[in-house]
Amino acid sequence: MSDLFLPVTVGAFHLANRIVMAPLTRSRAHAEGTPTPLMAEYYGQRASAGLIVSEGVNISPQARGYARTPGIYEEAQVRAWRPVLDAVHRGGSRMFLQLWHVGRLSHPSLQPGEALPIAPSAIRPDAHAYTQAGFRPCVTPRALDEKEIPGIVAQYARAARNALTAGFDGVEIHAANGYLIEQFLRDSANRRTDAYGGSTENRARFLLDVVEAVVEVCGGGRVGIRLSPLSPVNDLRLDRDPLATYGYVVERLNDFGLAYLHMIEGVTQGPRSVPGGIDLQILRRAFQGPYIANNGYDLALALEARRKHRADLISFGRLYIANPDLVERLRADAPLNEPDRQTFFGGGAHGYTDYPTLEPKPSPTPREHIMAQSDSSVDPLHFDIKLRARLGILREEIHHALLRSDTESYGELAGQVHDAEEESLADLLTDVNLAEISREVQEVRDIEAARDRIAHHTYGTCLDCGDPIAANRLEVYPTAKRCLTCQRIYETRTGVAPAKL
Ligand SMILES: Cc1cc2nc3c(=O)[nH]c(=O)nc-3n(C[C@H](O)[C@H](O)[C@H](O)COP(=O)(O)O)c2cc1C
Repeated sequence: MSDLFLPVTVGAFHLANRIVMAPLTRSRAHAEGTPTPLMAEYYGQRASAGLIVSEGVNISPQARGYARTPGIYEEAQVRAWRPVLDAVHRGGSRMFLQLWHVGRLSHPSLQPGEALPIAPSAIRPDAHAYTQAGFRPCVTPRALDEKEIPGIVAQYARAARNALTAGFDGVEIHAANGYLIEQFLRDSANRRTDAYGGSTENRARFLLDVVEAVVEVCGGGRVGIRLSPLSPVNDLRLDRDPLATYGYVVERLNDFGLAYLHMIEGVTQGPRSVPGGIDLQILRRAFQGPYIANNGYDLALALEARRKHRADLISFGRLYIANPDLVERLRADAPLNEPDRQTFFGGGAHGYTDYPTLEPKPSPTPREHIMAQSDSSVDPLHFDIKLRARLGILREEIHHALLRSDTESYGELAGQVHDAEEESLADLLTDVNLAEISREVQEVRDIEAARDRIAHHTYGTCLDCGDPIAANRLEVYPTAKRCLTCQRIYETRTGVAPAKL
């Protein structure tokens, strides 16, 4: 069997397989950008993917270019993402939120106060924005003043922080497909004469500022980035020297220890063959981390990419729209449903959550399923004993992690707890001993409560800015932590009153 279907470590995470659901805008959020329960059902259906990258999510009201796309800048939006994450995590997957600012690919009717969309330069794209009244031609945008740029970078950082609060496992910076970051990067859309235009270094400055700010919030292991060096979509002409420009970017990205580089190979949703014989593997080799390949992949191409080590993971877009159980279908080399383009954007459940899964085979009981995945020679009684022992050890370790206020080992433990919970819960379904069942349910609840306590544990207030310092607001170093509000660094020795270094 190809290792496409086997677990892999990416950044801070162990993923169940090397199959990724690509980001897919579906325009089914509420008008004000709040995710809906239907979205939780949709993503939950696709949770056999090793990793899910969310649809593009607006980082601010100004970032929006399409009606009914979700946001992550208001508290109500942050809260409404939670059921999506619960559904995905229950299904065993991990989910990164795609941080999105469309820049000039918007329309005044989508902007606060009907203002002009912003861009690095006032150049009108020959493209359409999806407004409440349907597709409308884009307008000439307003060129950003240099003084405004740090404020936009801060929007990315704030959105990343909100994503973690909502329960996302990480974020993907959308630097592809002609949106704001790529508008800065390419010489065809950037005519600036300040520190953000002209030379390759200057054009890449905005992207790198964003990466730095987001990594500061999340840590590199929870941040991926998406690039599309050879795609002219959304009327963004190719850079004069794509390899030099993107080569510089990729080299610089190595400084941040990112979780992955997500590459659209060729023209997004179009030909994979690249003009002028440019070989994207050069960029792949230059990047010192996992590489997710995308664009036009099917099973044969994905298997070949793994066999020839041309990609670490493969992401699928359109196939995921139509096949919620894509992993199972690919594993069985089963026929695939065809996506219906009419229902890509907007609408309700039709064409969204109603694509059929494979005919279910007579399904094994959860216990049989778990046993089949583990050592088949283990008898059921031993299996239960081992499971309980594992839960006990994990609880013990969590307790110690709490005492040490060591959020790094907490991250590792949380993954193991997640696996143990799954096994435990699946086991509950078949166990006839009700007393045992309620005891185990209590164990799982204890673990969840411990997890919450760790995440929200408060160590006191920052001596400089006075903000409460909680575990989920600290970046972890081997011996020190940082207040993310004012950047003051504290040593990790004590958990209660942080001492200045
Ligand atoms: C309906 C639709 C919505 C998309 N939305 C996004 C998006 O929000 N962010 C993004 O980076 N790419 C988006 N894409 C591009 C896909 O992620 C992917 O790159 C593209 O479909 C090519 O992959 P595929 O051949 O596997 O479909 C979208 C594509 C489609 C078809």
